Amino acid sequence: MNKTQRILLIALALVGTALLALMLRNPQPPVLPADADHRWIHSEACLECHGVGRPQARPDDHPIGNDCLRCHGLSK
Ligand code: HEC
Ligand code: HEC
Repeated sequence: MNKTQRILLIALALVGTALLALMLRNPQPPVLPADADHRWIHSEACLECHGVGRPQARPDDHPIGNDCLRCHGLSK
């Protein structure tokens, strides 16, 4: 193994270590607890008023999707 090859190998090892470190510390958002405190934010709760045949039913041309919060943000 000549000098250039050795330097390349060391560089490769450093990149690999850095990638591994980033992968291991990648935080994932925790899911909401399924308790009474968080019930209001569940999309099923929205459908109690906005579901088909409900008082605030969404119009027929509403975009497809029942995961409301993907599109509708919470007002601050
Ligand atoms: C208790 C009944 C009820 C529930 C539960 C409810 N809504 Fe509503 N929603 C209403 C009513 C009534 C209106 C229309 C009057 C108003 O704007 O407050 C409305 C209006 C809206 C609008 C239209 C606002 C606008 O500016 O035109 C959106 C979007 C909406 N709701 C989304 C949601 C989402 C998402 C959820 C669940 C997190 C939800 N709603 C839960 C009753 C409800
Ligand atoms: C794919 C994105 C998306 C998802 C998912 C979504 N919406 Fe909407 N919603 C929209 C858009 C865009 C509009 C505005 C449509 C328009 O003005 O024509 C809208 C409009 C509304 C309105 C107002 C309707 C009106 O009469 O003007 C209500 C209420 C509403 N959405 C409720 C909900 C509820 C409840 C859910 C979940 C069960 C939901 N949406 C899921 C995109 C979405």
